[in-house]
Amino acid sequence: MKSILLACFIQLIVICHGSKEYRLRQPCVFDSSRKPLCWCSGNGYTDCSGHGLNYIPVLPKTTRLKLRNNNLEILNVEMLKNISNKQLTYLDVSKNRIKKIGSDFIGVFKRLQTLNLNVNPLTNEELKTSIKNISTSLQKLFISGLTLSHFDDDLLKPLNGSKITVLGLTNNSFHGFNGGHIFNYLKYLTTLYLSYNHINSFNASRSYSLKQLSLSRNDLTEVPPFCSTSGALFPNLKTLYIDQNCISVLNMNNLNCLDNLILLNISATRIETLKSNTFSKLRNLTALSVQHMEGLNYIESYAFNSSSLRRINIRDNELQFSESNVNISLAFGGCANLKVLDITNNFLGKLREADWELLLSKISKLTYLDISLGHLLYLPKAIPNVLHNLKELRVSDNGIDFIPPGYFNTLYNITDIYFNGNKLTTLNHTQLPTTKLHHLNLAYNPFVCDCNILWLINYLKLHKRIVSYYPSHYICADSKLRLEDLNIEKRSCLIGEQTSTIIKCSCFSVTLILLIISGVYRYRWRLRYVMHILNYKRRKYINGNMKSSNFSHDVYISCAESDFNFVYSNIVEKLEENNFNVYISERDSVGGSLKITSTLENMDGSRFVMLCLSNSYVQDHWCEYETYMAMERSIYEGHDVLIVVVIEDISIVNMNKTVHKLVKNNNFILWETNKEVHRLSLRRLVRLIGGENTNICNPST
Ligand SMILES: *[C@@H]1O[C@H](CO)[C@@H](O)[C@H](O)[C@H]1NC(C)=O
Ligand SMILES: *[C@@H]1O[C@H](CO)[C@@H](O)[C@H](O)[C@H]1NC(C)=O
Ligand SMILES: *[C@@H]1O[C@H](CO)[C@@H](O)[C@H](O)[C@H]1NC(C)=O
Ligand SMILES: *[C@@H]1O[C@H](CO)[C@@H](O)[C@H](O)[C@H]1NC(C)=O
Ligand SMILES: *[C@@H]1O[C@H](CO)[C@@H](O)[C@H](O)[C@H]1NC(C)=O
Ligand SMILES: *[C@@H]1O[C@H](CO)[C@@H](O)[C@H](O)[C@H]1NC(C)=O
Ligand SMILES: *[C@@H]1O[C@H](CO)[C@@H](O)[C@H](O)[C@H]1NC(C)=O
Ligand SMILES: *[C@@H]1O[C@H](CO)[C@@H](O)[C@H](O)[C@H]1NC(C)=O
Ligand SMILES: *[C@@H]1O[C@H](CO)[C@@H](O)[C@H](O)[C@H]1NC(C)=O
Ligand SMILES: *[C@@H]1O[C@H](CO)[C@@H](O)[C@H](O)[C@H]1NC(C)=O
Ligand SMILES: *[C@@H]1O[C@H](CO)[C@@H](O)[C@H](O)[C@H]1NC(C)=O
Repeated sequence: MKSILLACFIQLIVICHGSKEYRLRQPCVFDSSRKPLCWCSGNGYTDCSGHGLNYIPVLPKTTRLKLRNNNLEILNVEMLKNISNKQLTYLDVSKNRIKKIGSDFIGVFKRLQTLNLNVNPLTNEELKTSIKNISTSLQKLFISGLTLSHFDDDLLKPLNGSKITVLGLTNNSFHGFNGGHIFNYLKYLTTLYLSYNHINSFNASRSYSLKQLSLSRNDLTEVPPFCSTSGALFPNLKTLYIDQNCISVLNMNNLNCLDNLILLNISATRIETLKSNTFSKLRNLTALSVQHMEGLNYIESYAFNSSSLRRINIRDNELQFSESNVNISLAFGGCANLKVLDITNNFLGKLREADWELLLSKISKLTYLDISLGHLLYLPKAIPNVLHNLKELRVSDNGIDFIPPGYFNTLYNITDIYFNGNKLTTLNHTQLPTTKLHHLNLAYNPFVCDCNILWLINYLKLHKRIVSYYPSHYICADSKLRLEDLNIEKRSCLIGEQTSTIIKCSCFSVTLILLIISGVYRYRWRLRYVMHILNYKRRKYINGNMKSSNFSHDVYISCAESDFNFVYSNIVEKLEENNFNVYISERDSVGGSLKITSTLENMDGSRFVMLCLSNSYVQDHWCEYETYMAMERSIYEGHDVLIVVVIEDISIVNMNKTVHKLVKNNNFILWETNKEVHRLSLRRLVRLIGGENTNICNPST
């Protein structure tokens, strides 16, 4: 309750402090069907606009009356019956169908200060009689958009002696301004609007009061002669608009005498060249507008030379900033005090870093720079290098994809940044100023929404109030999601760069280790074999050339475990019957000793190595290992120590490269179950082993 009261109280204060125009407006005049016709603000202001009225209704106490956009046709004293208070100070009857205004009607309002007759079908003659009896207190008269055919001294002669300061004459059909005496009648006129006519000649008497003259959108082909031998026509003129005219040659002799001129607008004219020192004689000129010049094709050195110039607007000229169109190094020569520069919508893309440096070094006091729509692909370093006073930077609608980290570090006073419509994909704290910003616009950039964008999202949320178009136009390029709605798993991103590098490295090493391990496992027999070979060579080196007397066995038999019984009864026993010393690990290996070591020792200690090939043999990894070792020994010793016995048909599946090599020369003994063949095979075997003769140092017992 308390808070509601407080809120009401605050609101009351706000209302009471608000300016008159913001006071509550309430309907105060109704038609027969109780529909509101007028709205009152309680301070004498009554607005009856836009109800098709052809009469003036009964009004409450009114001092300022607006009857805009109605159907009034004739204004005379008869019409005033419903107005009790004739002390109107403000009357707006614009946009009606008024053809005739009785001089008695105007004469009634002795205190009238502002009269707006805009957009009514009043002719020269009617206007002249209408204003005949006008109040001498009138200050502002608007007679734009009438059907006035020409302008001459006579038209406003009835205003002789009035205190008029502002006169609006825009959008009539004047072809010339023939005011040879006009300022004799309008001695207090400060502001004259003549835009939207067809004026191509301008003749006026001298005025010391005139401060602002608008001749925009007329048919002038040259600058009117504001200067003559007798001095300036308007010595106190501060603002001159001659934009949107057909002026192709800027004759500064007609302007240079205007010592008090502050603002000059020559936009949208047909000037082709801005010559050196064009404005240097306008001693008080501070603002210059030269925008939208379709024909502009060259800016000479020192074109803007002027120590008084503070603001230059040369936007929308579509001028290529290159040496053939602009004297890059000196165009802004002599503009030492320039503060505001707008070059929006020109081609700036061809300027190199060095050009920017030259261009900007002449205007290092800039506080505002607008290079939007400039076809820029990079941010010129010259801006932070040269423009240390910059407060506002606008680079909207270019092709910039990157803000160099620390870019704003030397822009100590930057408060407003416009980067909308570029190609920025991400941004972090190094790329934005550390100073307090008043305004930031990053809308319409193709943001890439990964972990790198988290900082920006956070920043935008925190600074919502200064960020324009947020959140609606801050969108991820790929997913079309708004940055604000993005749901990146924060914890997964919290891992810093270093940690993630560590993780990446360890992941890599783990993968590598796994690969190595699996490789080792896959090739474990080969690896063991390689190790053995190294060992073997060393042993050979130590023992010197192996002599037959050093052999402990005649033959080392390698067979699959499942074939052992067969091999034992069919081969081992038979060989031992023939007095051969046979080693077969399944029987002879000493328990407890490492299988691999004993295998190596015994194989090396045998004159021959017999491989009993079978399908199970081929599939057995241990047998594979023994095969490799035997083959390699064979190669090292240079003569065949291998005896290959095939005890069953090897199926196609098991025919690997090694087996193929072993059997390819038919250099093997087939141990068939057939008894006859069996005996032949045994005989061959005995001959093979015995061929070397049995010379064994440790005959088995
Ligand atoms: C005065 O106002 C009434 C309605 O408010 C209207 O009907 C009448 O025509 C007005 N009189 C004049 C002279 O305009
Ligand atoms: C001027 O206006 C007053 C008041 O309406 C009127 O009495 C007087 O006749 C008017 N004078 C002329 C010349 O119209
Ligand atoms: C304008 O008014 C002044 C006096 O206020 C008078 O001397 C002058 O003759 C008038 N000019 C014309 C053209 O009526
Ligand atoms: C000028 O007047 C014409 C009609 O007379 C209107 O259509 C046009 O909008 C006006 N232009 C301006 C700038 O007021
Ligand atoms: C300007 O107007 C004055 C007074 O009407 C006249 O004497 C003069 O010849 C005019 N000048 C031009 C260039 O029309
Ligand atoms: C420039 O304008 C100022 C006031 O705005 C004035 O005091 C000063 O005299 C003017 N300078 C010149 C050279 O006229
Ligand atoms: C100057 O004229 C141009 C073209 O008419 C207009 O767009 C611009 O607003 C004007 N500049 C100023 C400062 O009045
Ligand atoms: C710049 O303008 C000043 C003042 O008019 C003048 O003295 C100076 O010579 C001009 N500089 C150049 C390089 O033209
Ligand atoms: C720029 O202007 C200077 C001085 O007027 C001149 O010496 C130089 O040649 C000009 N540069 C170009 C590229 O026109
Ligand atoms: C920054 O702005 C302040 C106040 O506007 C001014 O005093 C100061 O010189 C400026 N600093 C720079 C480096 O432009
Ligand atoms: C910030 O962005 C820049 C440019 O993309 C990058 O070089 C830098 O590593 C980023 N810094 C941090 C802390 O993310």
